[in-house]
Amino acid sequence: FPAASGRVFADPPAMAHAASTMIAEYAAMRLTQQDYFRIVLAGGTTFALTYQLLSRTAADWSRWRFYFGDERCVPPDDPARNSQLAWTTWLRPAGIDPRQVFEIPAELGAVAGAAAYTPDVIAALPFDLVLLGMGEDGHTASVFPGQISLADQLVMPVTHAPKPPPQRVTLTPAALCNAAWVLILVTGDSKRAAVAAWRDGAALPVAQIAAGSRSSVWCDEAALGNAI
Ligand code: 6PG
Repeated sequence: FPAASGRVFADPPAMAHAASTMIAEYAAMRLTQQDYFRIVLAGGTTFALTYQLLSRTAADWSRWRFYFGDERCVPPDDPARNSQLAWTTWLRPAGIDPRQVFEIPAELGAVAGAAAYTPDVIAALPFDLVLLGMGEDGHTASVFPGQISLADQLVMPVTHAPKPPPQRVTLTPAALCNAAWVLILVTGDSKRAAVAAWRDGAALPVAQIAAGSRSSVWCDEAALGNAI
């Protein structure tokens, strides 16, 4: 468990304030040296407060380009869609132009959606920042334990995800690790078992990505439990 790059927070709000501040400052710094800031957004719910805080940040979003780590194969307006969380909590409130947002066309289906998104990812690599949550089984994005991606795959279909819905499109570890910085947030006691397994060296997808990238792993005390 990468304690060196880890931070522990008392609760999710404290983590979200630190994450939103760090993300905004990091982007501003990168944008003094380059034209665009390319960020991959996490699905799930862990990042919701971080996204809300970022939407209230007085940042110049015009040179940000938004991507997604994974998407569920549901209609674009379905509330279960990962991009919906980002639009509702951050992108729409911040007035971000949809042309800056590269959504995964997962409504095409897992295989067609992965094929359609691959050129966008190729054009974007390396990312400046990848945001990731972690599931209770140690999955991240929609890379689930035991799932194999081909060496040169950057975006892959998922057809039997253990976390519903079963059909998804996900960036592979190769794409998710191809970033200047990867920030992984883990909160809540439901993640405690996966965090403990990670600390014990389990080959979890999130552990593979953290080990294979310039990553920061931030947990709250509930997720760390007695491992503190
Ligand atoms: C998804 C997400 C997934 C998520 C984790 C954590 O489609 O479910 O991409 O990787 O980040 O499962 O989910 P929570 O943040 O809701 O705990």
